[in-house]
Amino acid sequence: MSHLSTVFVTGGAGYIGSHCIVELLSAGYEVVVVDNFVNSVNGPDGESVALKRVEAITGKTVTFYECDLLDKTALENIFAKHKIDCVIHFAAIKSVGESMEYPLLYYKNNLIGMLNLLEIMEQFGCFQLVFSSSCTVYGEPNFLPITETHSVGHNITNVYGKTKYFIEEMLEDITHANKKWNIIALRYFNPLGAHPSGLIGEDPIKPFANIMPLISQVAIGHLPILTIFGGDYSTPDGTGIRDYIHVMDLASGHVAALNMLQKSHQNYKVYNLGTGQGVSVLQLVKTFERVTGTAIPYKIVERREGDISVMYANAELAERELEWKSKHSLEEMCVDFWRWQTMNPDGYRTKSTKMTNGHR
Ligand code: UD1
Repeated sequence: MSHLSTVFVTGGAGYIGSHCIVELLSAGYEVVVVDNFVNSVNGPDGESVALKRVEAITGKTVTFYECDLLDKTALENIFAKHKIDCVIHFAAIKSVGESMEYPLLYYKNNLIGMLNLLEIMEQFGCFQLVFSSSCTVYGEPNFLPITETHSVGHNITNVYGKTKYFIEEMLEDITHANKKWNIIALRYFNPLGAHPSGLIGEDPIKPFANIMPLISQVAIGHLPILTIFGGDYSTPDGTGIRDYIHVMDLASGHVAALNMLQKSHQNYKVYNLGTGQGVSVLQLVKTFERVTGTAIPYKIVERREGDISVMYANAELAERELEWKSKHSLEEMCVDFWRWQTMNPDGYRTKSTKMTNGHR
């Protein structure tokens, strides 16, 4: 019965993890969370600032440990302390540029972290896993909208993407070897937005590289101008097209996947989590300006190396099998992100927010 299940969430202090935990707690799951704060904010007592706010939003408790998945003994100790029923594995480093500069760091962190986790799960007889994968595993699409049957692993443009692909392969292999494994890999498209309360959102420690935080930094005056990479793609306005999905929709997709694993044995399945809608960078900028009443000066420069021109999902498989569908519009993604940004101009490190934080 899902309401009694305890979910072990790795990387739960991060952007997607923290939003997913709100949905898990609301759905009646208990959570045990680990994070090493490599790309999320910690408070003075070693707590996760985001997760304290998740507790405020949900009125529920989050059990949290600062733990690096490369420290297998620490991981083992946590599994020994709690009865873990299933795992959602978000913890990974994900900066495309950084991954090209430091490939070993990416392979070590993402692959060894996953291996340690799988070995500990096996040791404790826990075989249910939801894995954070990415549409990057498809490489440059051969057809659109992209379905799960599209080839993967060819022409992946960066090391980060390869770590996701290698892990998917590894997961498929272990499910062949041991039928007890019950695994779903979710291929995310581009998450945007924030929880509608404005209390949690995207606040990486590493430099901003994704489009929405950069737009928002320009809107709030921290950056003078947005740089748009490429105005000469074969798209209606020349800028790149992506499938932007509200982070709360992505979060509910994880709950749907977990519910499915609890209900029936899947062995190994993959699902796209997207909206099915392609949106250009300029369309996103214009929508943000319109719904927030801000102005985003921009300049169009050369294409970014390794960028894909057009990518959007066919998300029908998730709708059919997981009974999940994205609900939130592009407007909501912009409004919710802007609410988070204006309530927390410097993210979780903002001195005064509209929320009282005891630890500040
Ligand atoms: C990238 C990665 C993807 C990863 C995701 C999360 C690639 C090919 N994909 O996705 O694997 O899962 O980040 O970290 O690198 N853009 C600008 N100006 C900016 C920033 C972005 O014009 O300053 C454009 C990009 O060219 C792209 C769109 O905005 O067309 C979205 O970019 P971004 O948010 O970085 O995501 P992806 O590149 O799609």
